[in-house]
Amino acid sequence: MKYSRISGTGGYLPDRILTNHDLEQMVDTSDEWIVSRTGIRERHIAADDQSTCDLAEQAALQAIDAAGITADDVDLIIVATTTPDRVFPSTACLLQQRLDIHGCAAFDVQAVCTGFIYALGVADKFIRTGSAGRALVVGAETMSRIVDWNDRSTCVLFGDGAGAVILEASDEPGILSTHLHADGSYENLLTVNAGVSIHPDALMAGKAYVEMKGNEVFKVAVNTLGRIVDETLEANDLDKSEVDWLIPHQANTRIIEATARKLKLPMDHVVMTVAEHGNTSAASVPLALDVAVRDGRIRRGETLLMEAFGGGFTWGSVLMKY
Ligand code: ACO
Repeated sequence: MKYSRISGTGGYLPDRILTNHDLEQMVDTSDEWIVSRTGIRERHIAADDQSTCDLAEQAALQAIDAAGITADDVDLIIVATTTPDRVFPSTACLLQQRLDIHGCAAFDVQAVCTGFIYALGVADKFIRTGSAGRALVVGAETMSRIVDWNDRSTCVLFGDGAGAVILEASDEPGILSTHLHADGSYENLLTVNAGVSIHPDALMAGKAYVEMKGNEVFKVAVNTLGRIVDETLEANDLDKSEVDWLIPHQANTRIIEATARKLKLPMDHVVMTVAEHGNTSAASVPLALDVAVRDGRIRRGETLLMEAFGGGFTWGSVLMKY
């Protein structure tokens, strides 16, 4: 059986760090409130002249290097982003040009914070069916561009960054299963209610902002992520104890802890970057993976469970042997 397997990871965070103490100077908030409700201490913010594609490029170059390949070896590019550089071409096409690759399929996936899980699920299917041999899969965001910096209920949560993997065909496992879901009936609990065809005036004025009913999102997220853990384990006939690492979407420490409790997984087997990165949406899972691969925590052959929940609502998981 043919599998797809991660052969290299990369990550990039912009230089500028915005701490909770910096935010105390901007809105009516406190380090104590932010840490106790979310676990976030600081986040990285892209420079004014840095775009989502700029961040994606740095992460992609690292992943290509870590996989020991050259850009020419890539035959599929998928970028998960909710903050693309342009309406079109896709950020994946812009990235393709930066990498000087020509001809392979390149497209974006939009599933907000679940974007990277969706992108990995799609790339896995391309590889398993033989349609691609080596995919570059990126999650990249400049969430700071769609945050209202006067709204304390959202501006403390988000950050910018990019993470990337090279996924390639292999006889060794690999991705074992992917589980992708959505329920659009929750459209208004978490949204940027502006775009090209509705409220374009807000978009043009740079006032298309994240709006979130945080409390309600929180409850659905905890329940839904609990269910997807069960679904993933059952689909693979796997016991909780066989999961070595949980690599969750990094939105909120309390949501992550609830999922870890469900798995009976000690927190030192959960990759946590939310304190330093904040919520980087589609970039959060690949960034966390890259951190734990590079610092030597995650080793070849270990079983990883990645999961995410985000606007849509969308949610999903990937179970894999690293
Ligand atoms: N500083 C101080 N006080 C604040 C702040 C702040 N930054 N933000 C809100 N508050 C206040 C509120 O005004 C409210 O005050 P009130 O009781 O006087 O009305 C109080 O704190 C409690 O507000 P809640 O929203 O109920 O706080 P909660 O404990 O739910 O925490 C949070 C808010 C952190 C947003 C939480 O609900 C959460 O993490 N939700 C889920 C987020 C998530 O997972 N999103 C999905 C991914 S994101 C994506 O897809 C783009």
